[in-house]
Amino acid sequence: MATYEPRMSTTSNNLGNNLGMAAQLASQSLRFGWYFALQRLVDRRTAEIGGARPKYRPTRPVPSTQELLADLGRLLVADALAVRDGIYPPMEDEAAAPIRHLFRVRRMFADLPDAVGRRASKDASTARQEPIAADVPDYYAQDFHFQTGGYLTDHSAKLYDVQVETLFMGAAGPMRRTLLGPIAEFMRGRDQRKVTLLDVACGTGRFLRQVRLAFPAMTLKGLDLSRPYLDEATKHLEGLRGAEVIEAPAERMPLSDASVDIVTSIFLFHELPPEVRRQVTAEVARVLKPGGLFVFMDSRQMGDKPGWDGMLEAFPHRFHEPYYRHYTLDDLDGVFNAAGLGLRAQSLPFLSKLMVRVKE
Ligand SMILES: C[S@@+](CC[C@H](N)C(=O)[O-])C[C@H]1O[C@@H](n2cnc3c(N)ncnc32)[C@H](O)[C@@H]1O
Repeated sequence: MATYEPRMSTTSNNLGNNLGMAAQLASQSLRFGWYFALQRLVDRRTAEIGGARPKYRPTRPVPSTQELLADLGRLLVADALAVRDGIYPPMEDEAAAPIRHLFRVRRMFADLPDAVGRRASKDASTARQEPIAADVPDYYAQDFHFQTGGYLTDHSAKLYDVQVETLFMGAAGPMRRTLLGPIAEFMRGRDQRKVTLLDVACGTGRFLRQVRLAFPAMTLKGLDLSRPYLDEATKHLEGLRGAEVIEAPAERMPLSDASVDIVTSIFLFHELPPEVRRQVTAEVARVLKPGGLFVFMDSRQMGDKPGWDGMLEAFPHRFHEPYYRHYTLDDLDGVFNAAGLGLRAQSLPFLSKLMVRVKE
């Protein structure tokens, strides 16, 4: 199977580039330290509230802490090398807006007792009580990860990023940035002013901002079912050329056939019921131009890294992820191939799976 690894020179004589790489590595390491500490504090506070993590013993193997951290380290080094080689712009971190970040951290801790209580009682219904729940599909109106309000409230949109980064120890941003590598390869020899990229389920727009920084003139669209998350995405792009945000289901995109050059999708498919996964895939293939690029990132699946399968098994016992188990076992290759999205390359950056596909 083809593997995607960023095409990078291993040596560089340019002192500035090497300093940029070192600065990137240093700031990513600090981010890791910060989110690692937050994760520990969340665990401790959870235990104080009386809701220690549900004990589930996976039947499959799990990696050691050293293996986990080594995998994370590889991701951060690859990120820094890509900055050195000009493939990614340096990543902005939370230090750029520390007050706002700290307010959001405080919000996360304030929300914790409710979330922990729901996890203990396996109640994922606050989203269903939102008035807007009547306008979205049933499968969507749930408290994914037990987050208060699911994806349906401003409160949730403000908490999402800090919660996800805490879960991934600061690696969510660098994981998303790995998609920039195949996009940069696709863009070689193309005029970015004539290229349209659609991020399906763009959430709070973290990835769109990274794309905008790397490709200032590209036409960007972000589609999501959550109005509060799209509003957050718009705010997140402030100060840069904007992106068109589209409030719509990914299984019925209000876009013309063959109108998009690049489609990206990050951490969406594991949250979709099996039949919707197939509908979204058909929509991706429909809106892409022939020869267009589909870059996919989501959780690894069973067997991708057999020594880690126990983590995939345990995850839905800790978080409300009703479709995750099926996702980990689904024949995604078959689904994508049947839709005419042919595999060009694949890799397994920290905890995730990256696929580069082309509309044939
Ligand atoms: C786990 S979040 C990932 C968000 C973003 N891609 C990221 O990297 O953080 C899943 C996102 O998918 C969106 N979503 C879930 N089902 C959807 C659907 N059927 N159509 C459009 N968006 C959907 C949610 O609103 C949420 O923003």
